[in-house]
Amino acid sequence: MPWHTLSRNSPDDPHAAFALDVLTGLSERPKQLSSKWFYDDTGSVLFQKIMDLEEYYPTDSEREIFERYGEDIAGRFSGQQLDVVDLGAGDGAKTSILLDHLKKAGVDLRYVPVDISEGAMASLEDRMKQAHPGLEVQGVVGEYVPALRWLSTNSDRPRLVLFLGSNIGNFDKPRARAFLRRIWSGLRPGDHTLVGFDMKKDIEVLLAAYNDKEGITRDFNLNLLERINRELGGEFDLQNWRHFGTYNVFSGAMESYLVSTKAQEVKIAALRQSFSFEAWEPIHTEYSYKYLPEDIESLARFTGFELCAQYSDRRDWFIDSLWRVS
Ligand code: AVI
Repeated sequence: MPWHTLSRNSPDDPHAAFALDVLTGLSERPKQLSSKWFYDDTGSVLFQKIMDLEEYYPTDSEREIFERYGEDIAGRFSGQQLDVVDLGAGDGAKTSILLDHLKKAGVDLRYVPVDISEGAMASLEDRMKQAHPGLEVQGVVGEYVPALRWLSTNSDRPRLVLFLGSNIGNFDKPRARAFLRRIWSGLRPGDHTLVGFDMKKDIEVLLAAYNDKEGITRDFNLNLLERINRELGGEFDLQNWRHFGTYNVFSGAMESYLVSTKAQEVKIAALRQSFSFEAWEPIHTEYSYKYLPEDIESLARFTGFELCAQYSDRRDWFIDSLWRVS
């Protein structure tokens, strides 16, 4: 296997962690499931389809940013050695544009994608090696923070940590701060991070992006229940569930829910338990926080970074923000 898989017997065992999260999430009031569990192999394929949707603007916006400003970003690392650590790389299409610019700038680079899904990692490695012949790739399959910990003990090159595609938006504000602090603590002075932020914008644009006409986002959300069925012996009947995506103007987050359309009991064999749901009771599944420019500046300062540059698309719908460990 060309990539490094973090041990399943470690305290970070993803299967045990999934079971525990489902148990605690469905025992809470209101019920919730963490969006980090969306990304099994099926979920990763569905997210790939979301990124190709016309309504889902973040992908195109970020691609435009890399086309316009990739040279400027790469120029900052010109002639240096660099580990480009890609957290939640997906298909790597946007990163590819950046890698091209880094190569042109004479950067001696190694590409280190990190993804929770082995399936996604296998196709990513193939695609990146094809697109960039001779590129050194060292994938890590696992969760972000254990992967960063693993990398700290396995490389002493300067690092550029990519956290693109508005993944940071899936953390609430305290968790976003804690996560960036943990990235900071795994880096050395002079290392960089490039973080993608989805900006606050017209509510209609947001609602359309998370309630697409083809129903791919609905399937993506419902896959979480299918995953419980597949991996934990759950008995969710998907006919009895509805996807609901809404925008909370006050918190600035798109919020996704799975809503039970009738009163029901659902057994989950691996948890040796049944869970009851009232008619129209929701399970919260995802936050996608939207930002203002000043939120980004204070987040950088608060987490130990110095802001180097803000790159935005023509519509100002998305910002890739480059920070350095100060
Ligand atoms: C991965 N993440 C940034 C996406 C988002 O926009 O929050 C996941 C997603 N959920 C629904 N559509 C896309």
